[in-house]
Amino acid sequence: MLEFEYIKNCWYPIGFSKEFEKKKLNGLKIVDKPIVVWRTEEGEVVAFDDRCCHKRFPISQSKMLDSGNVECAYHGLQYDSTGKCVEIPSQPDRPIPEKARLHGIPVCEQDGMVWLWPGDIEKATGVKPPRTSEIVDEDLTSVPLPQIVKSPSNYLLLIENLLDISHFYPLHDGNIGDKANSEIPVQLEEGEVDGFAYVKTIREVQNYQQPPFLREWFHYEIIDRVHTHAMVTPGLTRVVMRVAPPGELGTEAERGYTLLHLHYPVDKENLVWRIAISCKKGHTPLNDATRSTPEVIAEMFPAVVAEDEWALERQQKMFAYPDDGYSELFLTSDMALRRARQIMMAMQREERKAPEAQHESLDKAVA
Ligand code: FES
Ligand SMILES: [Fe+2]
Repeated sequence: MLEFEYIKNCWYPIGFSKEFEKKKLNGLKIVDKPIVVWRTEEGEVVAFDDRCCHKRFPISQSKMLDSGNVECAYHGLQYDSTGKCVEIPSQPDRPIPEKARLHGIPVCEQDGMVWLWPGDIEKATGVKPPRTSEIVDEDLTSVPLPQIVKSPSNYLLLIENLLDISHFYPLHDGNIGDKANSEIPVQLEEGEVDGFAYVKTIREVQNYQQPPFLREWFHYEIIDRVHTHAMVTPGLTRVVMRVAPPGELGTEAERGYTLLHLHYPVDKENLVWRIAISCKKGHTPLNDATRSTPEVIAEMFPAVVAEDEWALERQQKMFAYPDDGYSELFLTSDMALRRARQIMMAMQREERKAPEAQHESLDKAVA
């Protein structure tokens, strides 16, 4: 059984800034919570519990008025952009109760992304989302994969998948993978950035023959390569690939990409996954000099994503069976996966401890 569910006290990327237009209500579920998000007339992104404080009608399925207020589609309670109720049609002559408001959720817009903190609001104080500066770097061309991947699997399985290129064979054989890829030794790096433990794999190879997709994106047939995968936080996994003809890494001949994998848990069995692709400005694919490399990667990458989804969905289903003596085998190539799982399990244990501790002190106060 997968004992891990999800981390709540974390910034999660819910989409690219451009996707949050003024006058548009967006509804989503994250860590089992319904949330409504919109961009105010002033340009700020705000987020609230999606349940109307009257009778739970989803605000995301209600109406944005010209005034910038939102009107619940059921009995017409109106909320301003701070979540405060400003009108109750059925009792116009009575004062609006203090309690009549939507519960706010911390939001942060940074580097072209919108992030939510769905957990304990106090724990968000002083913590910023990880940087995704590639998206706004003027020396790079960055293209988001338009596809919003909604997969019926726990996001821990996706993070493990993203840290693990030994699955490039056989899962991605013939597009980005091959058997030689599985033989590349893996080194592990660990550390902490902004209070979040990260784990990173580094794979270096010389005189490697690029599989077909990578050949199209990065031109050369035989290359030296440095390939890193890092779980930066439970919301972001950064993949960097640097390739060049043998002996030319670090020179003008170097090509490659950064993939920002942005993920959040919908609930313990569903995830949302977005990808941003960045390459050096001016880089074009092998067979079409009129287009940018990330643009072409964005078109070709869904085939790779579909293979990962195919595997994750099947893997998740197997967790429904009781372990009954079963335990997973960890290989040398799974070191990072194992650490990522330990880090996230520890974060989950910490969170679960918190409410119990509060109850204890409450009990003591009552006693
Ligand atoms: S449920 Fe929203 S106004 Fe009644
Ligand atoms: Fe994959």
